[in-house]
Amino acid sequence: MRRRISFWIFPVSVVFLIFLAACMHGQRDSASWAVLSPATAVNGMVATQESLATQVGVQILKQGGNAVDAAVAVGFALAVTLPQAGNLGGGGFMMVHDAKSGKQVAIDYRETAPASAVKDMYLDANGNVVEERSRFSALSAGVPGTVAGLSLALERYGTLTLKKALAPAIRLAEEGIVVTEALTTSLEKHRETLIRWPETAKIFFKADGSSYAPNEVLRQKDLAKSLRKIAEEGPAAFYNGSIGEKLAADMRQQGGWITREDLRNYRVKIREPVRGTYRGHEIVSMPPPSSGGIHLIQILNILESENIQVLGAASPDTLHLMAESMKLAYADRSLHLGDPEFWKVPMRGLISKTYARKLGQLIDKKRATPAEAIKPHNPVPYESRETTHFSVMDRYGNAVSNTYTLNFSYGSGIVAAGTGILLNNEMDDFSAKPGVPNAYGLIGGQANAIEPGKRPLSSMSPTIVFRNKKPFLVTGSPGGSRIITTTLQIILNVIDHEMSLADATHAARIHHQWLPDRLEVEPGFAPETLKKLKNRGHRVELTEPFGSTQSILKIEGRFYGASDPRRKGALALGH
Ligand code: GLY
Repeated sequence: MRRRISFWIFPVSVVFLIFLAACMHGQRDSASWAVLSPATAVNGMVATQESLATQVGVQILKQGGNAVDAAVAVGFALAVTLPQAGNLGGGGFMMVHDAKSGKQVAIDYRETAPASAVKDMYLDANGNVVEERSRFSALSAGVPGTVAGLSLALERYGTLTLKKALAPAIRLAEEGIVVTEALTTSLEKHRETLIRWPETAKIFFKADGSSYAPNEVLRQKDLAKSLRKIAEEGPAAFYNGSIGEKLAADMRQQGGWITREDLRNYRVKIREPVRGTYRGHEIVSMPPPSSGGIHLIQILNILESENIQVLGAASPDTLHLMAESMKLAYADRSLHLGDPEFWKVPMRGLISKTYARKLGQLIDKKRATPAEAIKPHNPVPYESRETTHFSVMDRYGNAVSNTYTLNFSYGSGIVAAGTGILLNNEMDDFSAKPGVPNAYGLIGGQANAIEPGKRPLSSMSPTIVFRNKKPFLVTGSPGGSRIITTTLQIILNVIDHEMSLADATHAARIHHQWLPDRLEVEPGFAPETLKKLKNRGHRVELTEPFGSTQSILKIEGRFYGASDPRRKGALALGH
């Protein structure tokens, strides 16, 4: 109860302050509604899940570095300060807006299946999925992409040397971090997964097995050595050097399938972002192998025909339309989305306005359509929750939206011996068997079946929204299957409901992913609203708050940052 009250105190006080300010100035235009936010600055802004990493990024901006320099340093720092999701042993996506060229690129450093991967590798003799194998064994790890991805981003779009970008992370790993309450809680929560692996237990728990308490110092010596090696030898230390050697040896030891050859063959992909428009804004987001950008744009396209601004935020009508649009998009996801190098994704069709109009006509404005009555459609001719997102904007006009992950908190829980590096369990994002849900309840088929070298389908949606051709909103979130709908709601709250970035972040969220057929609602909606949704046929289920958005808004030369209050430890800071 207390958590719920504190969850609301801030938005309520912000609304009150806005009202007061508007009364004092005799104006309540939309700009004044949109600008109030907790962190403001004129030179740049960094929003991440962990305050030390945010400070690393801000320091780099202060020294004249650009948004990519700051983002890369943040990415490496989070591998130390936020071990549950920040990583070297995982993968992710970085969306960069390069002010000089005026162009955006999507940097895909998602993990790949090892060369020896086979479609049925997680099935037992009876053809049943063995979750333990795809989630908590050495077999669950995909070939990591983070070191290659961050290094490439820096080389192409940054100004710092890799050594300089890695220096803060090395210092944090060597000298240690002061453990926060958030980290103690997280390590305790995942104790069972972590202590199964002696190499992991020895890093994150004390010799007697007890936990690090808040304010104690956690040093990660092996991780510091690995980071130093990368600083000295470049990403080759990881993919073709001593770190890779240790990782492959550990795999052999633990029964995993990643080899030195797999590491040598890993490649980052530079992709053209997926683009859409929404009420005069350009939406630039992540293409496959993420499903995020496509379905974000698809849902926005469906909603664009509806006057949800007038229907109002959190009204039963608006929530109904959102839920029905989400269902249609996630049904399509199950059939059409996969790694584009292995599966022809009908991207143009899925994001077309014509297709959205056709889908919109399927929505009954008064009744929820049961999930079993919804099937994936054919677009007109012509993708734990413990991922993490960070956003950076700089004074030069650059913007970075980055989401990366180990999949679950601490991934598989396995640290490759001698490296200090936690390994992902991203292989669980593949469809282990058609129709059998993964850890997020997501269904898939042939498009997302396991194949050697293939990237598992993701929902990560690092997004940049442009207004008048300038970066306006940089946002994204962790949350597994809920990433897409969480990111969507930040955009709707800012553009349609003209909320301040703080309110847009704090506002209670909903989520529907077609299957299972349930409308998840966070605490905070009026009981009357939920009753009306139930009366329309929605299977409403109250959930724990989800997502953890890290967003930056730029209006009239000022940056406004907002870190989600749903998870402790985050910080938006500017200078
Ligand atoms: N591992 C969660 C995602 O990539 O969507």
